[in-house]
Amino acid sequence: MYYQKLKKFPKNFLWGAASAAYQIEGAFDEDGKGPSIWDTFSKIPGKTFNGTNGDIAVDHYHRYKEDVRLMSEMGLKAYRFSIAWSRIIPDGDGEINSEGLKFYDNLINELIRYHIEPIVTLYHWDIPQALQDKYNGWESRKNIQAFKKYCQTVFKAFGDRVKYWVTFNEQNVFTAMGYRWASHPPNISDVKRMYAANHIVNLANAEAINLFHQMVPQGKIGPSFGYGPTYPITADPNDVLAADNADDFNNNWWLDVYCRGTYPALVMNHLKDLGIAPEVTLDDKKLLKSAKPDFLGINYYHGGTFQQNQIEHPDKTSQHEKDFSKTDPYLMQPKDTQAQTPEMAMFNNVENPYLHKTQWGWEIDSVGFRITLRRVYEKYQLPIMVTENGLGAHDKLEGNNEVNDQYRIDYLQTHITEMQRALTDGVDLLGYCAWSFTDLLSWLNGYKKRYGFVYVDRDDNGPKNLTRIPKKSFYWYRDFIQKNS
Ligand code: NOJ
Repeated sequence: MYYQKLKKFPKNFLWGAASAAYQIEGAFDEDGKGPSIWDTFSKIPGKTFNGTNGDIAVDHYHRYKEDVRLMSEMGLKAYRFSIAWSRIIPDGDGEINSEGLKFYDNLINELIRYHIEPIVTLYHWDIPQALQDKYNGWESRKNIQAFKKYCQTVFKAFGDRVKYWVTFNEQNVFTAMGYRWASHPPNISDVKRMYAANHIVNLANAEAINLFHQMVPQGKIGPSFGYGPTYPITADPNDVLAADNADDFNNNWWLDVYCRGTYPALVMNHLKDLGIAPEVTLDDKKLLKSAKPDFLGINYYHGGTFQQNQIEHPDKTSQHEKDFSKTDPYLMQPKDTQAQTPEMAMFNNVENPYLHKTQWGWEIDSVGFRITLRRVYEKYQLPIMVTENGLGAHDKLEGNNEVNDQYRIDYLQTHITEMQRALTDGVDLLGYCAWSFTDLLSWLNGYKKRYGFVYVDRDDNGPKNLTRIPKKSFYWYRDFIQKNS
């Protein structure tokens, strides 16, 4: 490592933590809330670990005041959370539920009372089930109109107090998991439908950004993307090319649309050859070009390493014969298998021999975080908000009511240092939201995989007493924020 004098974080840097409605709120059918696709999906036997679901989650809906008080004790400058669309408009595009609005109104006011900047995500994977039933959800253009109505409602209600908005959380992950691997709702395994739904979401994203700029001109809006840097396994130019191809399929396929309004030609041409490209009209192209995000949200967990593929054109039917149970949400390919789907034939994901892994098999790559921030900033020249980064682990509540998560502190410390190096390299950074504030429901892994600064006393079988217990990392982040702002 060469010597580098590190730049200080700006005084107004948004040191934050994040969450998502379905993972924390509970109160799944209270105060007029309608069911979302996650309420339905998590109850299908065998879909989630031990049948866990978000009916109660960590009961944030009833305990938000206690949670915000803890945030303020920790010195958080920002808190990122999502709004559950089905609380606001229970059937997706009909009547507005004032009690749903009230909950978020109270939460936002409570945050502001403690000088914590709210960062609101519009869509963290939970469309109203009614829209899935009526229109086929994100496979229909009617869903765009429904989304616009929901956006208009919340921009009007909260645009005066909320400056930062995120449109879609990890579009790459929810479309892959939901339409390719059938491991998230709507439980579909069909790549053509996945690309079609993805395009509809892009249009909805563009509509939301344009509407926001009209309605809340003083605010800032952008999508949050689950980015993974791609590396070649060797300096063989064929491996370098494979990593570039993976970069186009895994990252640029989304980021180019968000930031430039166009799909990368390499991917589009390939999908057209295979007959699975989305239908893009002239009006669509205009719309995508017209919407400019104010910042890019980056969720960073890990990247991927690639080599050239030995198999040029695998049998198109082979995708249904493979075991996808090892899918990783940040890689478009299942691990341990070769060229699983025809459109993925241009690269092959392999182990990186230099990186250690978490208890969940995710590579720990703090330098990759710096690489991420530099690559994204240099390419798109938009300010970056780190909307997620964190470590999932089996945490243990000790007899003395302490959780000694030194491993999480080490993880966060090294990642934040790399972020500071990226800042020094010239990346324009607005803030950093660690995932997550409290422990919360891991979509598929229940409560055995925890990310929070605050331990919540519950397990997969249900709540114990849902008591909040700050972990060692809570005090570490508190001291860190104090020193750096
Ligand atoms: C990203 C998602 O946005 C979040 O909901 C999830 O819990 C974390 N990754 C960890 O897997």
